[in-house]
Amino acid sequence: MLPINFHPTLLRLSEREDLRETHPRSAGRPTMRGYQVALVLCSIFLYYLLHCLLWGTNVFWLPTAEIKNKNIKRCPKQPPFASLLKFPQFYPFLCAADFTKTTSKYGTSDFALPYGTRPSGIHFRWVLSKLQNCALFDEFDKVPCKRCVVVGNGGVLKNKTLGEKIDSYDVIIRMNNGPVLGHEEDVGRRTTFRLFYPESVFSDPAHNDHNSTAVFIVFKPQDLLWLLNIMKGNKINTNGFWKMPALNLIYKRYQIRILDPYIIREAAYNLLQIPKVFPKNQKPKHPTTGIIAITLAFHICSEVHLAGFKYNFNNPNSSLHYYGNATMSLMKQNAYHNVTAEQLFLTSIIEKNMVINLTED
Ligand SMILES: *[C@@H]1O[C@H](CO)[C@@H](O)[C@H](O)[C@H]1NC(C)=O
Ligand SMILES: *[C@@H]1O[C@H](CO)[C@@H](O)[C@H](O)[C@H]1NC(C)=O
Ligand SMILES: *[C@@H]1O[C@H](CO)[C@@H](O)[C@H](O)[C@H]1NC(C)=O
Ligand SMILES: *[C@@H]1O[C@H](CO)[C@@H](O)[C@H](O)[C@H]1NC(C)=O
Ligand SMILES: *[C@@H]1O[C@H](CO)[C@@H](O)[C@H](O)[C@H]1NC(C)=O
Ligand SMILES: *[C@@H]1O[C@H](CO)[C@@H](O)[C@H](O)[C@H]1NC(C)=O
Repeated sequence: MLPINFHPTLLRLSEREDLRETHPRSAGRPTMRGYQVALVLCSIFLYYLLHCLLWGTNVFWLPTAEIKNKNIKRCPKQPPFASLLKFPQFYPFLCAADFTKTTSKYGTSDFALPYGTRPSGIHFRWVLSKLQNCALFDEFDKVPCKRCVVVGNGGVLKNKTLGEKIDSYDVIIRMNNGPVLGHEEDVGRRTTFRLFYPESVFSDPAHNDHNSTAVFIVFKPQDLLWLLNIMKGNKINTNGFWKMPALNLIYKRYQIRILDPYIIREAAYNLLQIPKVFPKNQKPKHPTTGIIAITLAFHICSEVHLAGFKYNFNNPNSSLHYYGNATMSLMKQNAYHNVTAEQLFLTSIIEKNMVINLTED
């Protein structure tokens, strides 16, 4: 609002100066008034600028490019899972330009991490200001109705030679440190998005596919400080992580996006229907990265297929992942996740034909 009013006023001032030149006798007073008006306008403008900087709202001349990036092509046909979502068109990444507006519009600023931005709003804004953009797809992207595959890390992918099939999708979503290198036959080569957090990210740069976008999931306040310090080249404080976090980041700034915590809230409360309050003697449960990845896919795809989503609890000797030697016996009933609720959810979306299970026998 203000900037639009601001420019015409400036114009009027200069018009008045033109007038002064043609009427030299009345020069003195209008010039004084001109200065006063300019001073008042300047003060209002500076106040507005400070306000914007402090609250992280859009300062009109800055990130228009970022806003433009949010104009993605929408698929005209309704996807089969649209009924599950509260806001199917929700933009899944945070942008510096409209952080305050978006997080307040969807109530995200009222929820605590990992479902909202509290108490870390200022750290979110710091990190966002360090990133290069918040685009979802390449600006040359021409596919409005995207076929997507979400590749879980389950041992069920071993020896299924699904690699070529997986590579044929428009969008390929992978997670954590599930490698492509050395497993191309089974899991393919391409990666569009890779979801990660400090305890789960690769540290060997050989695993960085420069064509992929790395999507940061913020579970706790330390995660943002980790990213911020790593980008600034500061020492990493490793306290407060459930496992040693990576001490370097293989991804470049242009590759990094921050997942809007709303996506995690949607996964927990809408899709899995995890309770909002837990008794004092229980750890609150949160969705796994796999379910978060599927929720992300639901917001950007018109078709979603799944591969590698299976826990084989019947055989403790079966492989937990398609890589490494971990077996199911290592997979304790995780205190932070409700695997039963997740399995029920997956079965139900497969049965309702909302998604397709690629690793079906
Ligand atoms: C996959 O194939 C390899 C080589 O053929 C074999 O050694 C391995 O046991 C197989 N793994 C599974 C899970 O079937
Ligand atoms: C990345 O994109 C370039 C250009 O499209 C392509 O030549 C290259 O093979 C891609 N790399 C991977 C790992 O997909
Ligand atoms: C798992 O492996 C152990 C040791 O190799 C063996 O004794 C056990 O029978 C196996 N269990 C199953 C279900 O295959
Ligand atoms: C898995 O086991 C094999 C053979 O026991 C070993 O050579 C390899 O290093 C192990 N891999 C990992 C990731 O631990
Ligand atoms: C996990 O989810 C299932 C199904 O919603 C529910 O019955 C069970 O009580 C939950 N378990 C825990 C520990 O929250
Ligand atoms: C996909 O199909 C396989 C084979 O039938 C099954 O074992 C697996 O549990 C299914 N995945 C899910 C998420 O239900």
